[in-house]
Amino acid sequence: MLQKISDLRAEIAALAAENLEQVEAFRIKYLSKKGLVSALMADFRNVPADQKRAVGQAINELKNFATETVNSLRDSLTNKTDNGAGLDLTRTEAPLRHGTRHPLSLVREEIIAIFRRLGFNIAEGPEVEDDWHVFSSLNFAEDHPARDMQDTFFIARNPEVLLRTHTSSVQTRVMEAAEPPIRIICPGRVYRNEAISARAHCFFHQVEALYVDKNVTFADLLQTLQYFAAEMFGGETKIRLRPSYFPFTEPSAEMDISCNICGGKGCAFCKGTGWVEILGCGMVDPNVLKACKIDPEVYSGFALGMGVERIANLKYRVNDLRLFSENDVRFLDEFVGTH
Ligand code: DAH
Repeated sequence: MLQKISDLRAEIAALAAENLEQVEAFRIKYLSKKGLVSALMADFRNVPADQKRAVGQAINELKNFATETVNSLRDSLTNKTDNGAGLDLTRTEAPLRHGTRHPLSLVREEIIAIFRRLGFNIAEGPEVEDDWHVFSSLNFAEDHPARDMQDTFFIARNPEVLLRTHTSSVQTRVMEAAEPPIRIICPGRVYRNEAISARAHCFFHQVEALYVDKNVTFADLLQTLQYFAAEMFGGETKIRLRPSYFPFTEPSAEMDISCNICGGKGCAFCKGTGWVEILGCGMVDPNVLKACKIDPEVYSGFALGMGVERIANLKYRVNDLRLFSENDVRFLDEFVGTH
């Protein structure tokens, strides 16, 4: 009898199943009422009294062993473990690594939110543009250097089709299509044919704002700039305007803010001046309004444009532009929880 039990044990130990039906067949063969283990139990009656103890124990062990074997064969075929290969799929997974929002997205969203509070709506335009929207309508003279091959990426060497070099092209698109009052903000990517370095890249991001209505004055522009600077960099921020030139605005200015790193005292970042430049702006040139069939005798407007990377640089002290497009997770991880 003991020999029979150990033979059966060896047989069960060698069982292998490819599917659940086979496992069920094993269960019936060994463990059901009419199975081989039950048959042993029936024979137990005939075991001599002095062997009953040892045989009874052996049968019980065999029964447990058969039950365990059938269960583990079944488990290995239902998803609980990876076919017995030791991979336990019921374990809790490793902690999830959450992504972060890109610093440029954070800054862009913040700029948009500020202008939205002033009633500006978002407008977008194509990145592949034509000369009219990027240059001609914006009062760029035929021989303006910005049209030059060195600055502008042309598509298929066609001087008419190009990658926009600034988001000012969206101004024209909106003014052509809508009647004033117009109050828009245009975020987007722009391209320039520059050698890539820490300070220049062949693409970057801008946000443009345009307000056209009756009686829009330079005072409206100034108020908007002051509000923007205070919201973006804190209430203590001072602004100053320096006269400048853009073909599409007259008069034109560049805006500096008091250096937000040294608070205006002068440091390496602001090169000791206490001021840092952040955007260009001005009153929309009457020629631009005319090009878009808006009567400059009735309407006036202001426009401004800024680089998102520039603002991010000031806010987060990122001074190598290349970091923004390399997507090194060690860099991106620094912005976890920023918003
Ligand atoms: N388009 C200018 C640039 O790319 C930025 C700019 C300056 C936009 C003055 C404006 C503006 O709307 O009024 O450098």
